[in-house]
Amino acid sequence: MAIAEDRAREVARRHNFSEIRIPALERIELFARSSGETSDIVEKQMYSFADRDEAGTIVALRPEGTPGVVRAYIEAGLDRSDPEQRFFYSGPVFRRERPQKGRYRQFYQFGVEVFGRVDAACDAEILIMGDEIIKSLGIAARCEINSIGDATCRPAYRAALIEWGRAHLEQLCEDCHNRIDRNPIRILDCKIDAKLAATAPSSLDYLCDDCRVHFDSVRELAAVAGVETAVNPRLVRGLDYYTRTAFEFIAEGLGAQSTVIGGGRYDGLVEAMGGAKVAGIGFGMGVDRMALALEAANLVPAAGPDAVMIAMGASALKSAIVIVRELRAANLRVEMLSSERKLKALLTRAVKIGARCAVIIGEDEVARGCAQLKDLKTSEQREVPAGDLAREIATVRNT
Ligand code: HAM
Repeated sequence: MAIAEDRAREVARRHNFSEIRIPALERIELFARSSGETSDIVEKQMYSFADRDEAGTIVALRPEGTPGVVRAYIEAGLDRSDPEQRFFYSGPVFRRERPQKGRYRQFYQFGVEVFGRVDAACDAEILIMGDEIIKSLGIAARCEINSIGDATCRPAYRAALIEWGRAHLEQLCEDCHNRIDRNPIRILDCKIDAKLAATAPSSLDYLCDDCRVHFDSVRELAAVAGVETAVNPRLVRGLDYYTRTAFEFIAEGLGAQSTVIGGGRYDGLVEAMGGAKVAGIGFGMGVDRMALALEAANLVPAAGPDAVMIAMGASALKSAIVIVRELRAANLRVEMLSSERKLKALLTRAVKIGARCAVIIGEDEVARGCAQLKDLKTSEQREVPAGDLAREIATVRNT
């Protein structure tokens, strides 16, 4: 499972993001105010309970990472002193959903958030990051994108949706009846009314000039960098804070729960949470779903070490323990096996843990400054000077 997180961390580092650690437990208001009172997450899916403090504070396990990052950003005063920031985070999140394959009540998210950037190049770079994580894992996925407008054009779109909803009231499910006035955009996300919702007005037809230009340049910049996006005018995402760009990466071969990365722009959120008027954009990656996608594509990387070290005898052990340090310093994954067992049993163990090769050192090898290197796939064994071991192991591993 961790491979997706490892790759995401590498990509985030290359994009110059810093890690931020956020609490798993927060006051419930934080999520109500940010994820949105009318989102499913806040209405139905939060694990919340009263604290035993005098005030009976209601706390909740975080259902997503973004609100905690925004709160930390504002609390540190960065929104005013140094608004342009880029953070990543990783950890468990909790949602009371109906569990099924790829949908869990505790799952792991890797997320990124950028503050203080309103330019389309930033949106494109966020898409590029998602693409880089997915490509580095070898997964096949498509990127769907939409623009849901901003404070200028959203009201007209909202009004059109309400009008449409009222005209189709009888055909809409009960949940959507409530959504019409509270948050009509959520109708587009309704699983029950999906067919009817496909005929609802599209936000793209209501975009103001600025939003339209922004949307087109995000797509163009992403495309010139090799990230093709498919417009999905029904993509609205399940959280209330989004403005303009909304996107998802959808992996092949995963069935119903196939969105592995979801995100978008949230230009009004920092201000709505009491901070300065600062733009934001980010995404969350489902680490568990990425693991399922790797499994489905048969891409789970070999779990074993590059080599095991086998020392035969007490003086060989002294050399071996020094050599394994050198091999690890050369960035190889090496496990030292017990010197208390017979060679045959140790080689069986090496194969069992998936080691690519075995380094065997006895008194004789110590005296001659060399080691036996056994390729555990081909069973071929040869003598290698101790100084060449790291390079030779890396060569075997890469074949
Ligand atoms: P989200 O789309 O709710 O967005 O979640 C992000 C990702 O978490 C999803 O694309 C999916 O891969 C994974 N995920 C969601 N629910 C589950 C579940 N029950 N079980 C397993 N995996 C799941 C957010 O959470 C936003 N905070 C993303 C964001 C960051 N937007 C802007 N910045």
